[in-house]
Amino acid sequence: MAQKAREIVGPKVDELIKELLSAYADEWLAHYYYKLAAKLAEGINSDAVAKVFSEMAAEEAEHADELAERIIHLGADPIRDFAQILELATYKKVELPSDPSDFKGYLKAGIDAERAAIDVYNNTLLKLRDDIKDPVTFHLIRHIMGEEIEHEDRLETLLGR
Ligand SMILES: [Fe+2]
Ligand SMILES: [Fe+2]
Repeated sequence: MAQKAREIVGPKVDELIKELLSAYADEWLAHYYYKLAAKLAEGINSDAVAKVFSEMAAEEAEHADELAERIIHLGADPIRDFAQILELATYKKVELPSDPSDFKGYLKAGIDAERAAIDVYNNTLLKLRDDIKDPVTFHLIRHIMGEEIEHEDRLETLLGR
């Protein structure tokens, strides 16, 4: 644990860790569902859709790694019990259409998930700016949120806006 890192965050450090664990869980679930979407899209021969979901899945896993690193620096463990991923996540399921040829439905499901992530990260950023006041985590979340905005944009472009 980085004692100084905890000290800088101040009395609300545990509240912040809870929020980071929830984001960590969300990133894992997004990673899982996007990998699934990429595979299913491959099956329907939709290369562009498969590619975007596969790239996003890799980036969500990176986000999980970055959050894990910050959680550890603040003196906590990332989630050890996988069942807790579902418990702690805000966005528990990416609803992929059952019809495998509905690639527009796939894109819309991704857009919904990205928009939810952007909302969550935006709330965390405002809290980090005005209440908890932690510049290190602020910059991390701002970086992740920027990539979620890119994800939303890529999906929207494929959908044709
Ligand atoms: Fe992410
Ligand atoms: Fe994303």
